[in-house]
Amino acid sequence: MPVITFSSPKGGAGKTTAACILASMLAEQGATVTIIDADPNQFVQEWAQLPGLPATLQVVGGATEETIMDKIEEAASMTAFVIVDLEGLASLMVSHAISMSDLVVIPVQGSQFDASQAARQIGLIKRTEKRGGRAIPYTVLITRTNPAIMPHTLKHILQSFDERAIPVLKTRLCDREAYRAMFSYGGTLQGLAGKGVANTTVAINNAAEYAAEIVQRLRDKREQAKEVA
Ligand SMILES: Nc1ncnc2c1ncn2[C@@H]1O[C@H](COP(=O)(O)OP(=O)(O)O)[C@@H](O)[C@H]1O
Ligand SMILES: [Mg+2]
Repeated sequence: MPVITFSSPKGGAGKTTAACILASMLAEQGATVTIIDADPNQFVQEWAQLPGLPATLQVVGGATEETIMDKIEEAASMTAFVIVDLEGLASLMVSHAISMSDLVVIPVQGSQFDASQAARQIGLIKRTEKRGGRAIPYTVLITRTNPAIMPHTLKHILQSFDERAIPVLKTRLCDREAYRAMFSYGGTLQGLAGKGVANTTVAINNAAEYAAEIVQRLRDKREQAKEVA
């Protein structure tokens, strides 16, 4: 079913974190989810080997340039959601995954450097669109923000995305300890309850809002596609 790909040319932008949060929130809600770990570092696989992963969530590793499309196709025929975590490079594997996506999420932190990298990534999406003859929906996700403040730089970046009609999710993922702890304890955010991690409930609420907005965006795009057809 829908393929959601996390991509940015920058390592450390927050792709893997955002991909795993989305996957685990959907799985906690009872949906079947496959994450394709398409980063040679295989961090998602490492997380999946820890205890606490919902039975509805499966991780497929070892994707290569040659196998990524088949892996996505197979996962899409088996689970309700397919989430692809890519490496921070522009490679043929990245283009292949983007070409099969229903939504590409580009995580951006609040710096101009990140925003410029996102613009480059959108260029790659546009070129992939041209080759495939199909529109590929994408959105920026602002991540690792401080929940208490809106820095001037972030405001400026949001304004420049707005001026260029670049879609940005309304929900931002804040910088939260729970989003790091998930990867050391394993499992989902809900599984962190009772482990003494600060503000877990707030982190879950933020993650739920983010997952709901992605699902809504997929629905909107599907409706728009139907209208065009
Ligand atoms: N929302 C967040 N809150 C707290 N830490 C985060 C958040 N997003 C990313 N990080 C941390 O930032 C670093 C890079 O994030 P990661 O998701 O691995 O990025 P990428 O996959 O783009 O390389 C990791 O140490 C991760 O724990
Ligand atoms: Mg990563």
